Parts: sequence; C-alpha cells; structure tokens
Amino acid sequence: MHVSILSRVLILFLLHVLPIATEHVLPPQRPLQKSDTAATVKKTHRVAIIGAGPGGSSASYHLDKFSRLSSLDTPLDITIFDTNPYIGGRTTTVNALEDPRYPVELGASIFVEINHILYNATRDFDLTPSLKIYQATPTAKYELGIWDGVEFVFKTVREDDDGGSSSWRGWWDIAKLLWKYGLSPIRTQRATKAAISSFLRFYDDYFPFTSLQDAVMKTGLDTYTGATGKEVLENAGVGGRFAREIIQASTRVNYASNLGGIHGLETLVCMAIEGAMAVHGGNWQIFDTMVKNSAQRAFLNTSVTHVERTSKGTYLLQTDNEELKSAGTGEQEVDFDTVILAAPYQFANISFTPQLLSPPDKIPYVSLYVTLFTSPHRPMPAFFGLGDDEQDDVPSSIITTLPEDLNERLGSRHGVEAVGPSGFWSISTLKVLHPESDGRFAGPMSEFDSSTEETEESTQYLYKIFSPAPLTGSFLSELLGFEYRPPSDDDEEDSLGSLPKKDVSWFYEKMWHSYPYELPRTAFVNFTLQMDEDQDRGLYYLSGMESFISTMETSALAGMNVAKLIVEGLKTRES
Ligand SMILES: Cc1cc2nc3c(=O)[nH]c(=O)nc-3n(C[C@H](O)[C@H](O)[C@H](O)COP(=O)(O)OP(=O)(O)OC[C@H]3O[C@@H](n4cnc5c(N)ncnc54)[C@H](O)[C@@H]3O)c2cc1C
Ligand SMILES: *[C@@H]1O[C@H](CO)[C@@H](O)[C@H](O)[C@H]1NC(C)=O
Ligand SMILES: *[C@@H]1O[C@H](CO)[C@@H](O)[C@H](O)[C@H]1NC(C)=O
Ligand SMILES: *[C@@H]1O[C@H](CO)[C@@H](O)[C@H](O)[C@H]1NC(C)=O
Ligand SMILES: *[C@@H]1O[C@H](CO)[C@@H](O)[C@H](O)[C@H]1NC(C)=O
Repeated sequence: MHVSILSRVLILFLLHVLPIATEHVLPPQRPLQKSDTAATVKKTHRVAIIGAGPGGSSASYHLDKFSRLSSLDTPLDITIFDTNPYIGGRTTTVNALEDPRYPVELGASIFVEINHILYNATRDFDLTPSLKIYQATPTAKYELGIWDGVEFVFKTVREDDDGGSSSWRGWWDIAKLLWKYGLSPIRTQRATKAAISSFLRFYDDYFPFTSLQDAVMKTGLDTYTGATGKEVLENAGVGGRFAREIIQASTRVNYASNLGGIHGLETLVCMAIEGAMAVHGGNWQIFDTMVKNSAQRAFLNTSVTHVERTSKGTYLLQTDNEELKSAGTGEQEVDFDTVILAAPYQFANISFTPQLLSPPDKIPYVSLYVTLFTSPHRPMPAFFGLGDDEQDDVPSSIITTLPEDLNERLGSRHGVEAVGPSGFWSISTLKVLHPESDGRFAGPMSEFDSSTEETEESTQYLYKIFSPAPLTGSFLSELLGFEYRPPSDDDEEDSLGSLPKKDVSWFYEKMWHSYPYELPRTAFVNFTLQMDEDQDRGLYYLSGMESFISTMETSALAGMNVAKLIVEGLKTRES
C-alpha cells in the first residue's frame, strides 16, 4: 500500500505557475475572460488527456476551440501527458545523418486534402505544406515500381520537369491503367468516392456521434468494414489482376496487409490518394501547435500508470514521472473532472480503480519495422532479376505484392507469413543528399564534419524500408551490392551495425505497433469507458476509431468528436 501512496503523483495547483516539465511546451496563457472575474467565477473544468498523438492533441485543440465557439462559461483547464519526450505519437521525425537539415518521417508521413482537420490545421497554423513527398533518383527511369518478388508487374515513368521531385503522381493515373486493366481502375475509383463521401458525413450530418457503431451503420459503411478488401473489390466488379497488382501493393505499403487481411473500407482509403501532402519538416508540427495553442500544460516523458475515481466522481492520476512525484510531496492534489485516454488501451498499461466494466478488447496490431538509412549505393538490378546494365531500370521507389501463385494462400496471413517472396513491404528513396553542398550544416558536429570524411563528396541516398522483421546486414548488402560478411554465423550479429560505414553511412531502426490488422468487423467500441452502469462519467476513449480506419486524421476526428461531446455536455449543464 505504501508503494502506491509513494508513487501517487500529485498534480499541484502550484504547477499552474511552474514551467512545464519539458523544454518542449510552453503553457499558453488564455486571455482573462469575463468568467474569470470574481463576480462570475465558475468552477474550472479540469481535463486530463493521456496521449499527445494526433488524437489527444486534436482533443485538446478542439476542446479549447469549441468552448470558445459556444461561449462556454465554464473555464477549461487542460493537462496532457505523454510517455514520449515529444508531441506527435506515431507521427515524428528523426534527422538523417544526425543532421537537422534532413528531418525524415519515422511514422505517419502522408495525409490527403479531404483530411479536413489536418488540412485546415496546416493552413491555419501557417505550416508549409509539401506536395512532393519523395524525391526520385535523378537517373532512375521509373519513379515507382510494383514488384511481386519475381518481376515488376507495374512501373510508372518518372515525370520531373521540376528538379527531380515528385509525389508518385504517376501512380494512380487512370488513363495509363486503363489499357492494362480495363474498367477496374474506374470501378475502384467509383467505389472509393462513394465510401469517402459517406465517411465525410461524420464531419457534418452525424457530428458529433456518441456511438461510432451507430454512425457506421447509418452511413452504410458497415458494408465495407464487414468484408475483406478482396470481397469488396470483387463485389464492385474490380478484376483480380488489378486488385493484386495495384491495390494490394497499396494496402501493403500503407497497412502491411494483403487484401484478404484487411477490411474493404481501409482498402479503399488506400486508394484515396488524391491531394496527398505532408508538412514540410514534419507532420508532428500540426499536433505540437495544437497542444501549444490549447493545453495549459503538457507533461512529456510521463506515463500515466493509474486512474482512480474519487468519491466525488473526479479522477486522480498517477504517473511514473519522478519530478512530478517529488514536486508533489505534501502538497495538495488536483483531481480531474474529465479524463480522455488517447492511446490504444492495450498498450497504455494503465490500471483503473474501480476496474473498467468492459475494457476494450485486445486486438492484433501490426509489428512494422521501419529502417531509415543513407548510402552512396543504388539498389542492384540483380536483386530484382534485372541485368547488370539495367541500373536505371530499377525504380526509385518499390512497393510490393504477392505473385499470382501465392496470392490465395498468403493473402489473409499476417506479418512475415504474408509478405511473400519480396521479403519487404516497400523501399522508398526519399531524398538525394549532398551533405557537402546542401546549404550549411547547422547541427552538432558529426563524422560528416567537412574536414574528416572522404564520403563527404559523394551523393548519399536516403532510403526508407518497411518490413515485417528487422533487416539484416546481409539483406542490405545484397540489395545495394557491396561486399560484406557477417561477423559470425550468429544471426544476432548480422545487424545493420556490423555494416561498413562507407556503404551504409547512417541508419535508424524502429519497430512500431503501427496500426491494427484491420480485420473485417461491424462492431466498434464506444467513446466512453465505464466503471459502472452510468454512461456519462467523464471517462473517454479515442482509439476504438483505429479498427475503423487508422490514420492521423481519423484519430484527430475522434479527438474532435469527443471534444464536442464534452463541450456540449458542459453547455447543457450551464443552461
Ligand atoms: C510507420 C507508420 C506509418 C504510418 N503512415 C501513416 C500515414 O502515412 N498517414 C496516416 O494518416 N497515418 C499513418 N500512420 C498511422 C498514424 O500514425 C496513426 O493512425 C496515428 O498516429 C494514431 O494517432 P493516435 O493519437 O490515436 O495514437 P498515437 O499516435 O499512438 O498517440 C498515442 C500517444 O499516447 C502515448 N501514451 C500511451 N500510453 C500512455 C500512458 N500510459 N501515459 C502517457 N502517454 C501514453 C503514446 O506515447 C503516444 O504518443 C502510420 C503509422 C506508422 C507507425
Ligand atoms: C526524457 O527522459 C530522458 C531519460 O530519462 C532524458 O534524457 C530526456 O532529457 C528527457 N526529455 C525531456 C524532453 O524531458
Ligand atoms: C475546414 O475549413 C473549411 C473552410 O474554412 C471549413 O468550412 C470547414 O468546416 C473546416 N473543417 C474542419 C473540420 O475544421
Ligand atoms: C506496466 O506498468 C507496471 C506498473 O505501473 C510496470 O511495472 C510495468 O513495467 C509496465 N509494463 C510495461 C510493458 O510498460
Ligand atoms: C455506446 O454508447 C451509446 C451512447 O452513449 C449507448 O447507447 C450504447 O449502449 C453504448 N454501447 C455499448 C456497447 O456500450
């Protein structure tokens, strides 16, 4: 018992005036409002948000926004917690070559124009949109290729009048696909449009929705979520060849799934790539700005470990943050009126007292291995079954699918068993770097300091590989065609760390629980967590959204939705 008392974190009134626990976030000052004056003082409604990814950040931002739009009298006070030392969750960048000139997305990298929350935020926060997400290799004839592990089944020619940059524009050019696939591309596009327009009703006709399940049923989207991508495409009259060669390549690069292992709606989401964009320098800036503009304080590097309901019906939070603990000794605790869990329950590792009546079911998540690296080498033609003189025929980026004879058998499997002979989901060339001449190096000194390395003169290609297992040194040496012998027969040692620096100048590996396996389903969990039969007790949950669609935007939509429900509830109480 004394352990739990010791480890109880005391969130202090005092902390309202203390600097935030990290350098990352400044407490924004809300202008003094009429309601803050003594005569009209209303009890502040305190909200804790657990998780500062797209969902939690959006909840914070929209709580503030909706409370102002609806002239809510009750002042809101928002505290946000995140385990990571940064805001953004699965949206974050690392610097290639440790050089701040080269930030690169490690997680979510693309959104689309119809993603209203992200699109509007990018505009409203004056962030620089970047429409060119990939910089094609200047010498490559093809921008994108689809490889089934045996041969390239599809390639798009590089079209760059503008300096070698592009965003795979050619890849979904219907006209070009027609000759090969007949009406399938058009049918796919039609099905995608229909599903997207139903989905967009979540932003207006059905907004806010108390039950995701109801909203899905009302829009009829359950016909898409309830069947596999394979079935939905068959029903739409889309031919098997187009489904396997084109659409499945997209479900693999986006969700590490073949068409038999993903539901129809998420499949169509993969084909809704019109107006693809990203934020220059990193998408995390959207969420960082959302938090800075709305939350009173953010505790980063801080995991919430326990949520306890008090006899008053408020919530006390415990965290693992030592600084918060010592700061709290002997001081008065602050409880929260509302708590929003903005992270998958199964990974959040939070205990509840009293226990939740029906905690969200554990669902399988994809283990996605993301490897970023730089190298002076281009992928070898021989790796893809091309001749030695065909270097320029290796597409700048390669996404993969299954060969026809394995498609049926592996189509609904997961992970390593689903990837097939290609062995990886995708290889993208992100950028061509010239560390010596790409403007001035502004970061900490590194081995790329101009005076020391001989690789400095050479072009470095920045690659990103998605795979269902960690990459080995042997794999990269075969792919890029350089001499390498693993230090021993022990697989453990055949790691990227063993590779010569002159061949792989920098690398960064990360395993994400990137998104759920989007298995067909028509049941979705609610936005509330319950400790008793009473529905509205101020305990909310965002991540049920992920089994419907897992994107930055849909998590942000869940956050916006819950924010609206909370503000409407407070408004009703006021009147
Ligand atoms: C490699 C990769 C590529 C992707 N590509 C795209 C893409 O191109 N486009 C797209 O839209 N989406 C993409 N996604 C999916 C997208 O990243 C997610 O859908 C989105 O980030 C989910 O947002 P969220 O806020 O629900 O969860 P998260 O982003 O996971 O945020 C949850 C946060 O909660 C924190 N947390 C968890 N438990 C606790 C605790 N106990 N206490 C405090 N904090 C806690 C976590 O640290 C995390 O920061 C990709 C994901 C990955 C990994
Ligand atoms: C987070 O914690 C790590 C290790 O405890 C520390 O090195 C880092 O500086 C902290 N970051 C922030 C932003 O507080
Ligand atoms: C986005 O901005 C447009 C135009 O300003 C507005 O009509 C729309 O409601 C906004 N949508 C969201 C989700 O913020
Ligand atoms: C979960 O939390 C418990 C107690 O708070 C801790 O001991 C354990 O290490 C945590 N597990 C993970 C996987 O984070
Ligand atoms: C989900 O929430 C709605 C509205 O609060 C409620 O009517 C419904 O019973 C809930 N469903 C479940 C499964 O808890």
